[in-house]
Amino acid sequence: KKYKIALIKGDGIGPEIVDEAVKVLDAVASCSDFSFSYEEALMGGCAYDIAGDPLPKETINIALNSDAVLFGAIGGEKWDTLPREMRPESGLLRFRKELGVYANLRPAVVYDELINASSLKASVVKGVDLMVVRELIGGIYFGEPKGRTADKGWNTMVYTRDEIVRIAHQAFKIAMQRSKRVCSVDKANVLDVSQLWRDTVIEVAKEYPEVELSHMYVDNAAMQLIRDPRQFDVMLTGNIFGDILSDEASMLSGSIGLLPSASVGAKIGVYEPIHGSAPDIAGQGIANPIATIASASMMLRYGLDEIAAAKKIDDAIKKALSEGYRTQDLAQFDAKEVCSTSEMGSIIAN
Ligand code: NAI
Ligand code: MG
Repeated sequence: KKYKIALIKGDGIGPEIVDEAVKVLDAVASCSDFSFSYEEALMGGCAYDIAGDPLPKETINIALNSDAVLFGAIGGEKWDTLPREMRPESGLLRFRKELGVYANLRPAVVYDELINASSLKASVVKGVDLMVVRELIGGIYFGEPKGRTADKGWNTMVYTRDEIVRIAHQAFKIAMQRSKRVCSVDKANVLDVSQLWRDTVIEVAKEYPEVELSHMYVDNAAMQLIRDPRQFDVMLTGNIFGDILSDEASMLSGSIGLLPSASVGAKIGVYEPIHGSAPDIAGQGIANPIATIASASMMLRYGLDEIAAAKKIDDAIKKALSEGYRTQDLAQFDAKEVCSTSEMGSIIAN
């Protein structure tokens, strides 16, 4: 089997970290029964500079003709003064919408070796391994009516039953591959839309009798994530609650350079680190490639259904960390050897 991967390296550290993920993908392919071909596409500031558009049509076409998209990061000061629709970030939002990736998966894993990098006490975070499943293209960020006048502003949180059904299926399917627990987060004590959310999730749950479903109000969930994050396996939630909770959950793990994400639900998924283009360290060879390498693992697991290969990558990341290899951002946490971006990529690939 040959998988076609669209590579969107982007700006800043994007090219450096995507190159390391490709190294690791080729390594895992060399000991599996599949291979990869890559096609590069432009997005972000570099696309604006070359094509006058942060999201050229050709990029969408390349993505739609691939099996999955591996994405680096976009943006930088150079493009910050452009009008909104020409800015790199608007290219990315349009891209997700065009592909229709409605489910954003954000794992938060605490590696034992990096327990001191966490923002919380070791005794609270040891063994944390949770996944936020966030609805990405609906809810209050997109609902109508919306608007503002000089002294009034309004947005509307809208979810249809169909939108809730499809994101709930994503969460239950992922839970089946994990510890088979879903906690659905809403505000059903106050919001009508949340009551529909809760009723619909309960209905979908009937198709997954092995999965244990619980419900939590979002304010309590924010508190529980800090108090006892180990109680969670899959957290299922809407767009705005998921935005906030997934950022909160990401800080359980420590460095932003470790955290991957997947945006799925459509034919083609987008796999990317949660961090940005880190212009402050670009071009120095010191960026941590692990978030991107872990995103490539998510691509194998959730996009290509190559679960054994995904596990190989996850294990290789853990092994590199347990042997004490650290990039600059993690150098103060029990490092035996501080390595460059490309050294870390090679160590994990090997
Ligand atoms: P950022 O995530 O790029 O950087 C925040 C801090 O974390 C910086 O000090 C950076 O050096 C560090 N950092 C990030 N990734 C790292 C890695 N892999 N290894 C080591 N250190 C790392 O966020 P910031 O500075 O707010 O934004 C920079 C640019 O990136 C902006 O133009 C922003 O709009 C864009 N951005 C793009 C995103 C994307 O492409 N999905 C997401 C977030 C921001
Ligand atoms: Mg956010």
